[in-house]
Amino acid sequence: MADGEFLWGAASAAYQVEGGWREGGRGLSKWDVYTNDERITEAVVGVQHTGNDAINAYDRAQSLKDIALMRDLGLNAYRFSVSWPRVLPDGTGRVNQAGLDYYSRFVDDLLAAGITPLVTLYHWDFPAGLFRKGGWHNRDSVGWFRDYAALMFEAVGDRVGHFITMNEPFIDIFYMDLIAENVRASRPGPRCFTSQQYGRQAPALHNLFLAHAATVAEYRRQRQNGMIGIALPLSPAIPVDPGNADDVAAARLVDGVINRWPLDAVVKGSYPDDVVAALKAHNPDFAVPDADLATMQANRADFLGVNFYSPAYVRADPTHPLGADRDLNPDTVKAFNGPVRPEALHGLLLRIRDEYGNPPVMITENGAGFGDIDEVRDGGAIHDPLRADYIRRHVEATLQAKAEGADIRGYMVWSLFDNFEWIQGYTRRFGMVHVDFDTQARRPKDSFNAYRDLIARHRGTMAR
Ligand code: FCB
Repeated sequence: MADGEFLWGAASAAYQVEGGWREGGRGLSKWDVYTNDERITEAVVGVQHTGNDAINAYDRAQSLKDIALMRDLGLNAYRFSVSWPRVLPDGTGRVNQAGLDYYSRFVDDLLAAGITPLVTLYHWDFPAGLFRKGGWHNRDSVGWFRDYAALMFEAVGDRVGHFITMNEPFIDIFYMDLIAENVRASRPGPRCFTSQQYGRQAPALHNLFLAHAATVAEYRRQRQNGMIGIALPLSPAIPVDPGNADDVAAARLVDGVINRWPLDAVVKGSYPDDVVAALKAHNPDFAVPDADLATMQANRADFLGVNFYSPAYVRADPTHPLGADRDLNPDTVKAFNGPVRPEALHGLLLRIRDEYGNPPVMITENGAGFGDIDEVRDGGAIHDPLRADYIRRHVEATLQAKAEGADIRGYMVWSLFDNFEWIQGYTRRFGMVHVDFDTQARRPKDSFNAYRDLIARHRGTMAR
């Protein structure tokens, strides 16, 4: 890649694509436990799925074919994550050289194809043994994670110029872990949470932000000369009825919890007072030591990864955590991850420009799935016009914000391939490439061609 070129990419995560769960000395993560032992997908969508085989990306022959598809698409970047227990089977201590070799080889394979690797260190697969010791609730997690990150910097930092510490901390801790907790307790609505649960999770998210800062410090201590950032799930909050003061207040708090909290934490090294107060009301033990904020201030990210799918329409509703229902979708044709509003992405990017000092931004995830209506087989083709249109309009929104001065360095689609979609197992397809989960056969959909045309039109004409 020519230095400074805008990055056109796609994103993935280890547990969703690798498979090979018992191969090459890999240890287990909490997701192996959630899926195999606790049967989380069965509880949520009624079918028992795991990521044990996923889409077989651990297999080198398969992965080389996948890289060939990336080249056909015209990608100059690919975001993937490292499975922490594949390189450290127990999470700390003993190193699994086969795991390190796998990632090192994959980086080399991408580079040989002219594709810039973006490496996420943590995309939700916390080592199972350490999770039993409390996971992010245990303050020792700061050191566990930093030491694992240090190992990865040493192993691939000479060839990887972009590291992402964590993926979507809020979704990991305030959504997936709470669903797992509800499944374990056999609660009837696994996706219904309480304010007390939110209060209880708050210190865990704090430890994660501290681990992020400690890892940024470690990256600089090693004098690595790339960039390090974090991928946040950002979602502008819109009151359902702007004339209703309760809806407006609920939307303000939702904005605080899902947007301002992580943004303030990683860009400014501070926490919003209203969010801390709202969580403290449900967990009096939630305290944020000044020394921790000082660590965060001293170790800010080099770039911000933005994962954007949709805005959140919010209504005041006391039966939801913190009194806000943020899961409303007025669209008739519904995308899995919320209402389709490219203008909300544009607005979000300008807000980051204006309120957060215009940091370098990478769109680290953006994409859609609509179910069978948008996965239409027609001979050899698969028509997914809604996905293609979604990608086109969100690329336009991104480029418009960039033209208006937002410092945007790249754009990644979620996802290149259909894959294991967490609590939904294999029932939700987000890929530009169809995967037959029985045979592992890949087949590009129409959105693949649409994205290829977009990249071809813009690549080379844009510096970043
Ligand atoms: C995001 C996750 C990603 C994928 C997409 C659809 O929240 O980061 O792994 O599941 O949603």
